[in-house]
Amino acid sequence: DYEGESIKRAPVVTVMGHVDHGKTSLLDYIRTTRVAAGESGGITQHIGAYHVETPHGMVSFLDTPGHAAFTSMRARGAKATDIVILVCAADDGVMPQTIEAIQHARAGNVPMVVAITKIDKEGADIDRVKNELVAQEVVPEEWGGDVQFVGVSAKSGEGIEELLEAILLQSEVLELTAVPSAPGKGVVVEARLDRGRGSVATLLVQNGTLKKGDIVLAGLQMGRVRALLDETGKAINSAGPSIPVEILGLDGTPEAGEEFIVVADERKAREVANFRQGKYREVRFARQHS
Ligand code: GTP
Ligand code: NA
Ligand code: MG
Repeated sequence: DYEGESIKRAPVVTVMGHVDHGKTSLLDYIRTTRVAAGESGGITQHIGAYHVETPHGMVSFLDTPGHAAFTSMRARGAKATDIVILVCAADDGVMPQTIEAIQHARAGNVPMVVAITKIDKEGADIDRVKNELVAQEVVPEEWGGDVQFVGVSAKSGEGIEELLEAILLQSEVLELTAVPSAPGKGVVVEARLDRGRGSVATLLVQNGTLKKGDIVLAGLQMGRVRALLDETGKAINSAGPSIPVEILGLDGTPEAGEEFIVVADERKAREVANFRQGKYREVRFARQHS
């Protein structure tokens, strides 16, 4: 293991829940109000990933899609995160992907904070949602359980400060630390092929520091970091713990939710990537022919 000075780090929080239960709206509210409050310097806006400076500390957020088709993305997302915000709409209650999100959080051994969303809506029934979650063994603290529940509205902003406090409280319990001098590692937020620039991957650094020139292994892909870009598209030289960045230089586009690590040896990295690609093709072939 890498030796080096360890510092407190911001929690990585993944927002999960059923389709249209208000995940993105909740994050949008958090982001835009922080911008309105003149804190844009503390915010990194990215498609699905950014960090927010709150009076109690920094939080890095990852959004996920609620649509049933994105199961594997949610499963990986839950593994890469420190805390899951389980979003459940007050007017709709527990639905299939709510249950799926609970299962991913449990499988990843990740603590949950429940956000009951859309409490401003007619037909909102917070107690009904609580009861439905209790049936899934997610029990609120006020009912003798160990999960913080917060009712929120992304329309009025009600409850959102409390939610941030709940996240930071949960984060304190986890005593999250990072070693900035270690080789960078973290999670792939998304990746795409750009006509001019090739592979463009958004990564969230969770530990260590990712630097220009580093060799990165990310899922089935590898490559040397040719450029790092911050949220404004500005070239930077490095990114430390909890910072999302775009990188250029990977051979292909890794899947969202995959882990990335910086490796010392380019040849080893290529071997591992080739091995993984071979395995992936084998599995796909077997599936197609079974
Ligand atoms: P997916 O990413 O597709 O799973 O959806 P999502 O969970 O991100 O939901 P999204 O934020 O897209 O919101 C879905 C709809 O609910 C939109 O029409 C929002 O305007 C609405 N909505 C979200 N939050 C609230 C809220 O607090 N109050 C009210 N009244 N409407 C909300
Ligand atoms: Na939606
Ligand atoms: Mg969304």
